Amino acid sequence: MAFYGDESLVGKHKTIFDTTLRDGEQTPGVSLTNEQKLKIARQLDKLGVDVIEAGFPISSEGEKQNVRAIANEGLSLDVCGLARVLRKDLDACIDCDVDMIHTFVSTSDIQRIHTIKKSREEVTAMAIDAIEYIKEHGAKCMFSAMDATRTDLDYLIDIYKDVEKAGCDIINVPDTVGIMSPSGMYQLIKNINSEVNIPIDVHCHNDFGIAVGNSLMATEAGASQVQVTVNGIGERAGNANLAEVVMCLHSIYGAKTNIKTEYLLETSKMVENFTGVHFPPNTPIVGDNAFAHESGIHTHGVLEKSDTFEPGIMTPEMVGHRRRIVIGKHAGSHAVEKSLQEMGIQPTAEQLGEILVKIKDIANKGKRICDADLYAVASSVLGRNLGKETITLKEFSVMTGNLTTPTAVVRAVIGDEEVVASNYGVGPIDAALKAVEDMMGGYNKIKVRDYRLEAITGGSDALAEVTISVEDEEGRVVNAQSASTDIATASVDALITAINILLEKKKLWSMQ
Ligand code: KIV
Ligand code: ZN
Repeated sequence: MAFYGDESLVGKHKTIFDTTLRDGEQTPGVSLTNEQKLKIARQLDKLGVDVIEAGFPISSEGEKQNVRAIANEGLSLDVCGLARVLRKDLDACIDCDVDMIHTFVSTSDIQRIHTIKKSREEVTAMAIDAIEYIKEHGAKCMFSAMDATRTDLDYLIDIYKDVEKAGCDIINVPDTVGIMSPSGMYQLIKNINSEVNIPIDVHCHNDFGIAVGNSLMATEAGASQVQVTVNGIGERAGNANLAEVVMCLHSIYGAKTNIKTEYLLETSKMVENFTGVHFPPNTPIVGDNAFAHESGIHTHGVLEKSDTFEPGIMTPEMVGHRRRIVIGKHAGSHAVEKSLQEMGIQPTAEQLGEILVKIKDIANKGKRICDADLYAVASSVLGRNLGKETITLKEFSVMTGNLTTPTAVVRAVIGDEEVVASNYGVGPIDAALKAVEDMMGGYNKIKVRDYRLEAITGGSDALAEVTISVEDEEGRVVNAQSASTDIATASVDALITAINILLEKKKLWSMQ
């Protein structure tokens, strides 16, 4: 069998230290509420992270209370608080009942001279004092030589040896400004590892886009713990990305962590929603396109055997994702035929050819093709209305404003029955979509999986295009688009179109 990683890591266990709630929250523009932080902490526990850095308690009273709340939440993971090598910072962490205190001080000349303005000897003395203080208070202790990768190597090794002697449990090697090369990181960790006997942790920033590579090289050189954030958020260009580090360790190196990888996608989505930091579709592992195939050659291969054009050592199921065949301008007949089959449509070879040409024509005009478009094209080529609509929308209304909770009411005919449902939400669209979801509850439970809104013209009378994906309880997914100058109308219209196609698919499956 082909092998892709450093063999020395096969079967080796690495621990995962997540700093989403501390370095991640330092992402410019990000501010999480205490409730959101608690939810992220619980999710990281479910994911199987070993340690989380819950915050920097000295920074504010609110932060301190939140770190304390997370520390007392009864999670299986260890909760860590960050502190400078100052008594007031350490006391703030001690007050929070954290399991571990991560204390740090600048060691590079550039930071030492221009920020803390202390001599090397003073810095070492402060670090030793902090470690002894932490140990006296019974917490686990991690020490970071901030800006380690720009610190004079002899001094760096000396300070790590000194904190080890003072009782430190683990040292962290931060690449604070993300300037290390992968081979440089490997060599640095080898050097430190040959002089220091306590475990080594690594904290890589992504200024040059190589934080994950640097973290992996550190593990090859002997680091036993890696610091990461969900979606790689953090100061400036962020930190090493949790999902990427973990999947590389598992799938490429054959190493082990405690991460339950099937929760990676839901964790990324939660942090994406709470922080508003959206990741592009081509993001590895968790992006919308991470397991999507469009070109004819690829989809043909993947439909035969998925490993032909996927890594194989990492499947969508492993990370809680799903494979998607996308119909677009590069689509081939296999993909179109398969998608039509799933909708219960069996065109002849000639009809299939015609559908393909029409689909490519639409795509060439720059439009994204949805299931609803494919359905409409197939209907016109086959010359009949494929399947009767199960739901016919009769009316809907949404009430919104600064003095009212956005509320929506929908009335529709489902089969032969008239149904009315209402719900409220955080905004008019949320309320309208929830009302439609509720309306469906008694028939087929569906949920909105993805929702996108784009203004396709300018001005306050802009035409808005809504693309929506819905999923039923068996995991079937359908997407549809609608455009209108009224965003609520476009949203409800796209949702009902998608549900109608989904119900057709469902009927077909139940007949098989
Ligand atoms: O990047 C950095 O050096 C840090 C330290 C606090 C470890 O975030
Ligand atoms: Zn950092």
